[in-house]
Amino acid sequence: MRLLTTLSLLATAGAFVAGSTVARADLKGSLRALHINASFPGDASYASASSAFNLRFTFKPAAVTYPKSPQEVSEIVKIGAAQKLTVVARSGGHSYIANGLGGKDGALVVDLQNLNQVSVDSSRGTAVIESGNRLGDIILALGIGGHASFGGFGFTSRQWGLTLDTITAVNTVLANGTVARVTNQNDPDLFWGLRGSASSFGITTSIEVTTFAAPPSATIFQYAWDLNVTAAANGIAAFQSFVQTNIPPHFGGEINLVRGPTAGTVTFTLLGGWYAPVDGLNATLAPFMRQMPRAPRTTVQTGTYLDSAVVLAGGSLDTKSKPDGHDTFYAKSLMTPEGSPISHGAIVAFVTYLAKQGFASKTEWFVQLELYGGKNSAINAVAPDATAFAHRSSTFTIQFYASAPGKVPPYPSYGFTFMNDMVKTLTDHSPKNWDYGAYANYIDDKLVDWKQRYYGAHYARLRSLKDKYDPQDLFTFPTAIEE
Ligand SMILES: Cc1cc2nc3c(=O)[nH]c(=O)nc-3n(C[C@H](O)[C@H](O)[C@H](O)COP(=O)(O)OP(=O)(O)OC[C@H]3O[C@@H](n4cnc5c(N)ncnc54)[C@H](O)[C@@H]3O)c2cc1C
Ligand SMILES: *[C@@H]1O[C@H](CO)[C@@H](O)[C@H](O)[C@H]1NC(C)=O
Ligand SMILES: *[C@@H]1O[C@H](CO)[C@@H](O)[C@H](O)[C@H]1NC(C)=O
Ligand SMILES: *[C@@H]1O[C@H](CO)[C@@H](O)[C@H](O)[C@H]1NC(C)=O
Ligand SMILES: *[C@@H]1O[C@H](CO)[C@@H](O)[C@H](O)[C@H]1NC(C)=O
Repeated sequence: MRLLTTLSLLATAGAFVAGSTVARADLKGSLRALHINASFPGDASYASASSAFNLRFTFKPAAVTYPKSPQEVSEIVKIGAAQKLTVVARSGGHSYIANGLGGKDGALVVDLQNLNQVSVDSSRGTAVIESGNRLGDIILALGIGGHASFGGFGFTSRQWGLTLDTITAVNTVLANGTVARVTNQNDPDLFWGLRGSASSFGITTSIEVTTFAAPPSATIFQYAWDLNVTAAANGIAAFQSFVQTNIPPHFGGEINLVRGPTAGTVTFTLLGGWYAPVDGLNATLAPFMRQMPRAPRTTVQTGTYLDSAVVLAGGSLDTKSKPDGHDTFYAKSLMTPEGSPISHGAIVAFVTYLAKQGFASKTEWFVQLELYGGKNSAINAVAPDATAFAHRSSTFTIQFYASAPGKVPPYPSYGFTFMNDMVKTLTDHSPKNWDYGAYANYIDDKLVDWKQRYYGAHYARLRSLKDKYDPQDLFTFPTAIEE
């Protein structure tokens, strides 16, 4: 028994050692026997099949498979388990750290691009969305699989919640190959875990969701200023106060900060969506606008809901017409607690850093303060323990993102330092034990305390679920729940 185990482990390890192709041949043979399309090292298709969105990563999967049904996903999961490979799902492939390739060499990748059906039942207000869809096909522009697994934020989220909050059932393939339809009725524990940490428990083949009636009118607004440190800091503080007033749920937005035109400045943009007749927008924004310098560069586009999605997608929702742009980048996130707003000292230190070090940096960077909370937010109306998503009392999810010069490899080491120091300006000027979180869809391969920041108090419960549903750790990646 013991000897057998050792032998099979050796055979598996052999798959990654040049010259030994025993396990790899088995893998190929097993997939071929079932007529499952796959790309292997050495195939002409392998370079593009295994390329990551973030070119900082160049992982070499054992194979990239293209199942056409949940049953084929199940077969692949069983083959992976038999071969003692790590199995990982890829939907849109947009993971910031290439977790859709397993986040390391040697994974068996299950690419869901052929599972791309969407069926809508308008009388019941529901839809079934297979995981390989891009949000552009659904309405925006990404893979739904990862997006819905860990959150799913957009400017409609203050009104409609996160993508994962709309899920009523998850169709998934578990580690033992079982094809399951998981609901709050038949398995409340697993259903809880799948909404916030799906990838550690199974491969989602489709989600069943509640749909919302498209609003009759939608406006995308953008106001931009070039500001010195004092004015930019006042702008962030003013926005943070403004969102605590009685703003409606159909107001969504973010503050974007990028390098300013001169040293000591930043370009500050309020970008957002207003999902109601446009004549109410100015009055809602007035208390904030009064605190900002006059005459921003303004773009206000009003149309249908579909028009607004096209504007946000940069002109087209057709995910086939435009090739996927790659990038070479490092990103971090910080979710700010509503109970302890960002202090003025932290805001000033942060903006000072952006206006000085940010102006000098050779990286191409941006910062986004996305509005999750404020008064009347559907995201924060969900009870903290209703889903595995751990953050139901954040004001902002701040995304910090810096690309290599020209967006091409190699990623410079000064980029990591620049980003870590940027985030430290906020945390160092905040209360000790400031209870901030991080967003698992802006996944950070260098976040040391990620269990706490991504999952907070939910990690322990997720860990016991992992023990029950994936005791062999088949679904493993760098930020997976550990058995
Ligand atoms: C240009 C860009 C814009 C973005 N904008 C937003 C935004 O507006 N709002 C927002 O919330 N996020 C946004 N994101 C982040 C995005 O939500 C995440 O990167 C998300 O994880 C991508 O999902 P994916 O399916 O494309 O990625 P993948 O790389 O395919 O997967 C990401 C992770 O999910 C797992 N996974 C994928 N499919 C499945 C499945 N079917 N079952 C189980 N696990 C699966 C993968 O194994 C991996 O761990 C953006 C990202 C990019 C690159
Ligand atoms: C296999 O999948 C790849 C990627 O989707 C595709 O280009 C190729 O045509 C597929 N081959 C077959 C035989 O289906
Ligand atoms: C910063 O900008 C504000 C608004 O434009 C202006 O009133 C102020 O004088 C500027 N401060 C400095 C130090 O330049
Ligand atoms: C909103 O205010 C701007 C000036 O800030 C003005 O140009 C615009 O016409 C106003 N829009 C509406 C619908 O009142
Ligand atoms: C597979 O795992 C699930 C969840 O633990 C369990 O309910 C089911 O009985 C298992 N199926 C088989 C065939 O072992």
